[in-house]
Amino acid sequence: MNIILLGPPGAGKGTQSARLVEQYGMRQLSTGDMLRAAVKAQTPVGIKAKAVMDAGELVSDEIVSDLIDVELATMEADTGAIFDGYPRTAAQAQILDGLLEKHGRSLDYVIELEVDEDALVERITGRFSCANCGTLYHDTANPPAKPGVCDVCGSTEFKRRPDDNEETVRTRMQEYRAKTAPILPGYEARGIVRRVDGMASIGEVAAAIDAILK
Ligand code: AP5
Ligand code: MG
Repeated sequence: MNIILLGPPGAGKGTQSARLVEQYGMRQLSTGDMLRAAVKAQTPVGIKAKAVMDAGELVSDEIVSDLIDVELATMEADTGAIFDGYPRTAAQAQILDGLLEKHGRSLDYVIELEVDEDALVERITGRFSCANCGTLYHDTANPPAKPGVCDVCGSTEFKRRPDDNEETVRTRMQEYRAKTAPILPGYEARGIVRRVDGMASIGEVAAAIDAILK
């Protein structure tokens, strides 16, 4: 099974991907996570991408598509892929078709997380993650069971993303509306788009996604 999780910043793509990885052994291909790792490691790609990401704008189609190509090449044929935050432009959608063919895969579903943009700013500014294992949390919607301690690995170190401030979030949303949302009709024409209410609780969104994948 190969799926795209589509939705604006804060829609819950990363949260739902993590759950699908755990439950079904799929692989999450998050270009955002890959880019943040490159920034941290100060690779040439990371150095180039940092300012663009901090501004909430999109990194070049070539850079992100190369990252996906490299990841797909390392995957076992029977491991499903969850594309999280990719493709994000019409050009990337086209490149992805070629990459899937190259790696002997096909797309099963494009799952759109439908959300109310006004609520997203609150979601994003409340987001933090474990500095050790990356588990995602939210100040009010999804805090660790024991305050200050990661549920998964027990670490007490947490971090917030530099692009998770209100101004940058607004730019990220504009980028989504202008460049990413327009790729949906192409997938719709293929009959593979499924919509999920992303404003429901994390558990309810997970159940709705499960019902699609069954
Ligand atoms: P990326 O990392 O992909 O960020 P994004 O698309 O802006 O999405 P987010 O990660 O912010 O949100 P999410 O949908 O994963 O939500 P999450 O599950 O964390 O991209 C970052 C940057 O990298 C881009 O701006 C761009 O510069 C660059 N980039 C990346 N990919 C690119 C590409 N393909 N092309 C070009 N540039 C690219 O949830 C958010 C919060 O809400 C969490 O705290 C969570 O706990 C909480 N939450 C989740 N679900 C729920 C729920 N149902 N109810 C209540 N709270 C919830
Ligand atoms: Mg994410």
